[in-house]
Amino acid sequence: MPDDSPLIQSLRTAVAAAPADVPLRLHLAELLLDAGQSDAAVAEAAVALQHAPGDAQARDLMARAMGAPQQPVPRQGAFDWQAAQEQVGDVVPPRFVEAPVRADGQDDPGDAEAWDVETPGGVRLADVGGMQDVKDRLEAAFLAPLRNPELRKLYGKSLRGGLLLYGPPGCGKTFIARAVAGELGAAFLSVSVNDVLDMWIGNSERNMHEIFETARRQAPCVVFLDELDALGAKRSRTAHSGMRNTVNQLLTELDGIDSAANEGVFVLAATNVPWDVDIALRRPGRLDRTILVLPPDGPAREAILRYHLRDRPIENVDLGKLVKATDGLSGADLAHVCEAAAERALLDSARTGTVRLIGMKDLLAAAKDVVPSTEPWFASARNVAMFANQGGMYDDLVAYLKKRRKL
Ligand SMILES: Nc1ncnc2c1ncn2[C@@H]1O[C@H](COP(=O)(O)OP(=O)(O)OP(=O)(O)O)[C@@H](O)[C@H]1O
Ligand SMILES: [Mg+2]
Repeated sequence: MPDDSPLIQSLRTAVAAAPADVPLRLHLAELLLDAGQSDAAVAEAAVALQHAPGDAQARDLMARAMGAPQQPVPRQGAFDWQAAQEQVGDVVPPRFVEAPVRADGQDDPGDAEAWDVETPGGVRLADVGGMQDVKDRLEAAFLAPLRNPELRKLYGKSLRGGLLLYGPPGCGKTFIARAVAGELGAAFLSVSVNDVLDMWIGNSERNMHEIFETARRQAPCVVFLDELDALGAKRSRTAHSGMRNTVNQLLTELDGIDSAANEGVFVLAATNVPWDVDIALRRPGRLDRTILVLPPDGPAREAILRYHLRDRPIENVDLGKLVKATDGLSGADLAHVCEAAAERALLDSARTGTVRLIGMKDLLAAAKDVVPSTEPWFASARNVAMFANQGGMYDDLVAYLKKRRKL
């Protein structure tokens, strides 16, 4: 209910977490009744009566709720808390910091942030500069079918499964995944696989299951599994015994993707090292479509540079020229270039005693100094492209390496 008071909202959350708690539910019903929401009060009283059929308080409340008018009744002489609360709402800090309540009623295991559901509204695909290839492929492989249920029906099962973004570090995989969620108007549940594994050692299967359960409740929802390789990489490195189970749990959840329960749940994953991802996860119907996210192209670099320079004191910056001088740099590298240029201008100002703005020569010098952080990645990708391109899985990568004369 949009106009529920914060207290009613909190109680609703608490009741959802402890559905069998009759006094708690009656407390909620009482408040709903006071707020004039007698229908909602009836519904809560009914559930309470299911749990405790003989409960006198529940019966009494039910009777009152059934007979009450569906209007807020300002009680004579009573202090209007609601109005008072609204009046001081923005001067008085909230009394409690809202903690996410886990819907299964279990105690919070600590940092529950790993699967906070975000509502979309932030980034859209239009905010992703350039990368037209990636956008087109996302549109065809993911967005169009999701937006259009008819199309989904037409293609039936061939559209189930999820999408894996891969590529060198710092080139926008996470950023693009967020944009996809924004585009769909879907909730976005971002999960770092490393967190799933590390935070609650021994609990990772349950965590994995709960992530998907949360997503099913929030549908339409995009589940974004970042650092997917953590599952495979750790398994081979430490022979972690629980890892197999975690992978299996993920497989189970993914295989449920086209069942009715998973309607509206979409899976995106990202990794720098797709060759470390368990091959079972890449089978048809699972994370079977891949999109390569390469270092930003010209328009993307322009967007990124513009963003990082937006609050800095600059003068006469020729973005076109800078874009040309930064070919091959990742998003993270570009951020570093802007940082380094600012530092240069600052040191200069300190030395000469006259303040000067950041100019082209600072930026170009910084761009010349930075070593593309994607180079080690391309070195290992090259081997994979040459020796392990089974089934043409890495054809995009091969094409890029050839074009860049790295193969
Ligand atoms: N095409 C783009 N348009 C605008 N900004 C971009 C673009 N690509 C990357 N960026 C910027 O670069 C930053 C780094 O990208 P991001 O964190 O998504 O990379 P990543 O591929 O997920 O890296 P990692 O592999 O390290 O997780 C983002 O925060 C974003 O601001
Ligand atoms: Mg990332």
